[in-house]
Amino acid sequence: YRSFGIDRTNSMGINLANDDQLRTLAEQVNAAARSEWRATPLVPGANAAGPDIAVTNPADRRQVVGQWKAADSATVEKAVQNAVAAHDAWNMTPAASRAAILEHAADLLEQRMPQYIALCTREAGKSIPDGVAEVREAVDFLRYYAAQARKQFAIEPLPGPTGESNTLQLSGRGVFVCISPWNFPLAIFLGQVAAALAAGNSVLAKPAEQTNLIGYYAVKLLHEAGVPEAVVQFLPGDGATVGAALTKDPRIAGVAFTGSTDTARAINRALAARDAAIGVLIAETGGQNALIADSSSLPEQVVKDAIASAFTSAGQRCSAARVLFVQDDIADKVTTMLAGAMAELKVGDPGLLSTDVGPVIDEDALKMLRDHAERMDREATKVAEVALDADAANGSFFAPRAYTLKSLDQLHKEIFGPVLHVIRWKADQLDAVIDQINATGYGLTLGIHSRIDETIEKIASRIKVGNCYVNRNQIGAVVGVQPFGGQNLSGTGPKAGGPHYLPRFATEKTITVNT
Ligand code: NAD
Ligand code: ALA
Repeated sequence: YRSFGIDRTNSMGINLANDDQLRTLAEQVNAAARSEWRATPLVPGANAAGPDIAVTNPADRRQVVGQWKAADSATVEKAVQNAVAAHDAWNMTPAASRAAILEHAADLLEQRMPQYIALCTREAGKSIPDGVAEVREAVDFLRYYAAQARKQFAIEPLPGPTGESNTLQLSGRGVFVCISPWNFPLAIFLGQVAAALAAGNSVLAKPAEQTNLIGYYAVKLLHEAGVPEAVVQFLPGDGATVGAALTKDPRIAGVAFTGSTDTARAINRALAARDAAIGVLIAETGGQNALIADSSSLPEQVVKDAIASAFTSAGQRCSAARVLFVQDDIADKVTTMLAGAMAELKVGDPGLLSTDVGPVIDEDALKMLRDHAERMDREATKVAEVALDADAANGSFFAPRAYTLKSLDQLHKEIFGPVLHVIRWKADQLDAVIDQINATGYGLTLGIHSRIDETIEKIASRIKVGNCYVNRNQIGAVVGVQPFGGQNLSGTGPKAGGPHYLPRFATEKTITVNT
């Protein structure tokens, strides 16, 4: 289809409703999952030093999935030197040629979908449907930014007086650092890197500590597709060491970051403190996302969409619904149905097709969620808690649960996991509900459930969020269809998968010629 001036089709992925296709895919994924994976820094001319660090399966910590080595400071320095030296040639490569390489990478990734889903399942605890969505989104980002680069990086003729030609051209800024989170270890990782590359930057890619294997095989794929090894380099390591060293380096032109709001602030400070040109920061961060349901909405649909929005991916999506504001006329019915629907959720091994909710990423995440649940058990009313199997003790499993709160003030921060909070409101309180949500300072996603046009319009126009979904779930933004990203504490913009993303990775040059 044609959107924002480019013709493009998103990846078809796998038809999850087709049992045969799904079963075949699950067999392929589980076969690939037997592999033992290794990740090291990918930096030409550097010696990978340091010990092997074991990666274990979040669903069963007794299983070692692979090994990785962190980049030491000499490797980081060599990578920055390589990236500086490689930038000009890549930037001078026509945008159409850069785009063709990214499209080749998209084709390779699509062909190898089962291997990459297996990595996502075993290293990040993703369910198979989430793994399919993850690979599809990564493929879409590669193709979308390739198509945008062809269009936006063409020389744009401008008007001028007779005897003068004026043109405007975009080109890469220099060395871009891409720092990504573990919850979309392939899609967000490759999305940021693809955009920076499409725009003509050389890239230093730092994955989250929890998902180095996925990042490594993503960068290997880019090399295989034709991106020179010094143009995209892979630097696994801690945020506080590798991430911090990169963001304070004066040779860096900009940072594309997705992760928590606190880390975005730290990066912003590091960029500002350098004795260097002002660095660009593109930050996509957290949220305190609400779903507002009024008394005209259909309880069955509210519950179905609340469950999908709160518990898919074990609630580990920045877009996930954390708070369901439900009008009190339908609140009893909705909470009763919510408890019933939650009782049907199956928590377990993400490699099984019967699993609805997999593990959380690690023991730190588990501890944060347990601490929150302990506080909620004291301060709120529990609506439901899903039962866990005995096997769950071998992995990082947290039972999805829902609580009724009196006020949004009872939530002090983003709770990144499968916990939904329900708050009742009365007919004359809609404005107050909107004010409370806006007052959190976050502005990522909002769900609205209503059959009254005026109510939908009022909420949508007053709410300060980046992505607003009406009468559906509020997760799973599609590249080029729902450009994704928030405002205020939720990020700087521009939106990923949208038409304004690439220019932020570029500088603009106007050339005026007296002909
Ligand atoms: P995080 O901020 O802890 O880590 C993200 C990345 O930053 C990691 O690669 C980490 O190593 C690195 N990092 C940490 N400290 C650093 C420093 N001082 N300097 C440079 N890099 C540093 O976040 P997380 O726990 O991995 O991810 C979860 C968070 O990400 C949640 O808040 C979630 O809402 C957010 N998120 C946002 C989006 C979005 O599009 N808005 C998408 C996914 C996740
Ligand atoms: N883009 C992801 C979603 O919409 C975070 O769920």
